[in-house]
Amino acid sequence: MGQKKLQRFAEIKNFSNVLEYPAGMKGQWKNFFKNSNPITLELACGKGEYAVGLGRIHGDRNFIGLDIKGNRLWVGAKKALDEGLTNIAFIRTQIEKINDYFAEGEVSEIWITFPDPQLRISKAKKRLTHPRFLRLYQAIVGSNGVINLKTDSPDLYQFTKQVINLFELDLLEDFEDINAKNEIGDDLKIKTHYEKLDIARSNRIHYLKFCLNKPLPVHADEQLKQLLIEEEID
Ligand SMILES: C[S@@+](CC[C@H](N)C(=O)[O-])C[C@H]1O[C@@H](n2cnc3c(N)ncnc32)[C@H](O)[C@@H]1O
Repeated sequence: MGQKKLQRFAEIKNFSNVLEYPAGMKGQWKNFFKNSNPITLELACGKGEYAVGLGRIHGDRNFIGLDIKGNRLWVGAKKALDEGLTNIAFIRTQIEKINDYFAEGEVSEIWITFPDPQLRISKAKKRLTHPRFLRLYQAIVGSNGVINLKTDSPDLYQFTKQVINLFELDLLEDFEDINAKNEIGDDLKIKTHYEKLDIARSNRIHYLKFCLNKPLPVHADEQLKQLLIEEEID
């Protein structure tokens, strides 16, 4: 492991705004932030551009970036500390464990920013908008919780729309390409590290905003799998 990475790993242990695999935080975030403002979670946050960017814009809300990679979190956490942004925190852990850190309804909104699209069908269950993950999110955001997905992957964008359709979730916003729009809100103008890398080479940034307002029955996952297989055969 590089020297810089090791140094960052050591430093985040002393950052007041980074919690690594925290115990006892479920239901306790209002004590941490010292207020009851709504909490937005950025999943797979990397360097936390959204957590920090949104935190700068919305001082009346709290933001938590979550990622497994400590050296990436370091970047966002350092910025938030340097700028004195007390409404921003970071958790180093796996997304699969989020139900250990938040009580039902404790999070009001989730952003998923440029997650790995997991293009192979055999990996579809690892996509962060697969119903397997949406059920984890629903357990913390409740039935009014809002999910925002920003991705440069046309495949992940289409897949997520299939999931929204299949489970009849409310689609609040659907931008096939945010760059093609004349006017976008300040939240959507925030750019992440991976957004700038343009890995998918799609020349498009897709955005979906939807509500987890319906039950997500497990038996429908098989239907989703069949849809994906049929599409591949076509
Ligand atoms: C492609 S990067 C995107 C990072 C950032 N959102 C951006 O747009 O620059 C995906 C991120 O997801 C994180 N990640 C992937 N699977 C994860 C998991 N199961 N739990 C926590 N983090 C995960 C990786 O560590 C990585 O930082």
